[in-house]
Amino acid sequence: MRFGGTTALSGVDLAVARGERVAVVGASGAGKSTLLGVLDGSVTPTAGEVRVHGVDPTSLRGRELRRLRGRTGSVRQSLDLPGQLRVVHNVNAGRLGSWSAARAAWSLVRPQGTAEVGAALHRLGLADRMYERTDRLSGGQRQRVAVARVLLQRPELVLADEPASALDPALADTVLAVLGELAAERGGALVACLHDPALALRHCDRVVGLDSGRVVLDAPADSLTATALERFYGVTR
Ligand SMILES: Nc1ncnc2c1ncn2[C@@H]1O[C@H](COP(=O)(O)OP(=O)(O)OP(=O)(O)O)[C@@H](O)[C@H]1O
Ligand SMILES: [Mg+2]
Repeated sequence: MRFGGTTALSGVDLAVARGERVAVVGASGAGKSTLLGVLDGSVTPTAGEVRVHGVDPTSLRGRELRRLRGRTGSVRQSLDLPGQLRVVHNVNAGRLGSWSAARAAWSLVRPQGTAEVGAALHRLGLADRMYERTDRLSGGQRQRVAVARVLLQRPELVLADEPASALDPALADTVLAVLGELAAERGGALVACLHDPALALRHCDRVVGLDSGRVVLDAPADSLTATALERFYGVTR
């Protein structure tokens, strides 16, 4: 995968099976977000082949492509949360794909499905923030709103790009546990970029290490130690 003169990913051969929780680790610029972008379809690889849910996304158009994309849910590094919207609307955005246009429009006037939104926010320690403007929240609170949105989407493949980077250790554990349960609920998989090796080992079954766009490690989590990962990648907590 090249961006102009930069090779972001090279020779990556990776298969993620249902039921797996995969941590992607590596230094800044190693290609972690690019890898997730290739999986969620926001980045089209300049070479090579990608199959998501067994299908090549470039072979699909229109409704079929939207349906395939709906089976993958992302918590992006940039979060992509319109700040002027109230939390409830950003969380409900996760299920717009399953709502009619009329229901989606009406929900902006009178929020729909607030019981599910409230339950998701409660799991993430944000129960009292449902009607707050999103741009009034702290970075860690916004990160959890993005997690709540993917909870309501209920995808099979959950992609999370440093979903706990702004959270204290207890909340980081909560978020990773919730994302793992979400993937398991639909018999799917979790792929999470994590820069905290201990968190990766606690919540994932497999660790993939990237260095300058190449896979330099692909091992079961129980065969690794946090110290070994830290030293090897120069990743900092
Ligand atoms: N849209 C883009 N245009 C140009 N170059 C890009 C683009 N996206 C990523 N790159 C380059 O690709 C390389 C990998 O970037 P990527 O965002 O995947 O790294 P990362 O491992 O996620 O880093 P970080 O830990 O800082 O988030 C970097 O050298 C980056 O500059
Ligand atoms: Mg990144």
